[in-house]
Amino acid sequence: MRTEREVELSDEFFRLLETKGTSMAAKPRTQVTSVYTDPGYLADERRTLFRGRPLLFCLSGELAEPGAYVTAELDGLPVVVLRGEDEHLRAMVNMCSHRGARIYTEERGTVQGRGVSCPFHAWTYDIYGRLMGQPLAREGFKDCDRDALSMRHLDVFERHGAVFVTPADAGSDAGEGFDPTKIFGAADDDLRDLNLKDCRLVESHTRTIGLNWKLVIDTFLESYHVFSLHRDTLATRQLSAPGITEDLGPVGLVVGIRNSIFEEQDKPSNERRFSPHATLQYILYPNVIVSHQIDHIETWQVCPGAGPDEALVRTSIYSYGSDIDERTERYLRRSIEVLMAVTDEEDFPQVVQTQRALMAGGIGQFTFGRNEPGLIAYHEWLDDAMTT
Ligand code: FES
Ligand SMILES: [Fe+2]
Repeated sequence: MRTEREVELSDEFFRLLETKGTSMAAKPRTQVTSVYTDPGYLADERRTLFRGRPLLFCLSGELAEPGAYVTAELDGLPVVVLRGEDEHLRAMVNMCSHRGARIYTEERGTVQGRGVSCPFHAWTYDIYGRLMGQPLAREGFKDCDRDALSMRHLDVFERHGAVFVTPADAGSDAGEGFDPTKIFGAADDDLRDLNLKDCRLVESHTRTIGLNWKLVIDTFLESYHVFSLHRDTLATRQLSAPGITEDLGPVGLVVGIRNSIFEEQDKPSNERRFSPHATLQYILYPNVIVSHQIDHIETWQVCPGAGPDEALVRTSIYSYGSDIDERTERYLRRSIEVLMAVTDEEDFPQVVQTQRALMAGGIGQFTFGRNEPGLIAYHEWLDDAMTT
C-alpha cells in the first residue's frame, strides 16, 4: 500500500478513536427481507447481476503459462479460461458444440499437444476452441459448417492481476465493449497496490451453504458484530470499533482492524503504518470479496445455488510469489483453516438460522444502522443495478 494511503487510513482510525466514532452512513436503511427469499426476485437477479456483467473468475497467476487453463461455473454456466501462446486469455463456455458435454473435465491444468478431446464422442478442439477432429464421424458431419462448431467464446479481460469473465446466454452479446479500466471504480489504485499479479493459489474450497447468496456477502460488510459473535476467537485480536468503511463506486472497502494498531499511536502521523494491522476487504459488487491480510490474499466468490436459500461459495487463499517454502505453505493452509472455522462455525450457522426463519415468513424487514455503512452502500448499489 502506498504511503499516502497508509497515512490516510491510520489518520482516519485515530481520528475516529479520539471521537469514539466509527464510519457512518448518512442515514439508517430499512431492508425488505423478500430480497433474500423470493424465487422471482432471484430469477431477476440472475438475469441482471449474473449475466452480461464482468465477474471475477480467478487471479492471473492461476493462468501464468501459455496453455494453462482454469474451469469454474459462473452462476451455473460452465466456463473455461485459457492462456494462449500469444499470452492473451480466451474464455469459452465449457460445452461441446456436438451435444453439450463438458470438454475440460479437470478444475485446472495445461493443454498438451494437439488440444483436448470431449469425453462423449471424442471430438477434439485446439486451445482456441476450434474444432480439429471428429474421430469415426467425418462423413456424418460432412455437410456441417465447421467454423460454426467451434466452442462459444465469452468476453474476458485482466486488470491488475485479476481475471474477469462476462457470462452471457447463447445468442446474446451482453457485456461486449466493457471498459476494463472501469472495473474497480474508485478502488482502482488500491487494487493495483495489492499486486494480485504476483499471487499464486495455495488452496481453494467450494461448498454449498444454506443461505441466500447476498447473506454470505453481508457477513463481511460490518465488523460491528465481532465483539459479540466472535467473542472468543476474532475479538481477541480484532476491534469491533472504530471500523473504517469506504464506498468506492462499484467496490466497497470494509476494514477489520487489529489491536496491534495501537503500536502506531505514538508515532508521528506520516510515519504510521496501517496495512500490517488491518484486514482490507474489498467487496467487488455484486458477488466477490478480495481480502488482503498482511502477507496473503483470500477471495470469496459467491453465486446463487438452486434457490433463494442456497449459495455456492468458493474460498481461495493465495501466497505472494510462487517459490514459498514449506513453512510458509503450512502457515497459509493453517490460516485458511482458521478463517473457515470462524465463518463456518460462527458466522454462517447464525445466519442460516435467520435464513430459515425468513423462509418461514419470520420478519419483513431488517434495519441497517448508520454504523453499518458497508451494508447500506452494498444494498443501495444492488437496488440501483436491479432497477436500471
Ligand atoms: S458431445 Fe462432445 S463429442 Fe459428442
Ligand atoms: Fe463474522
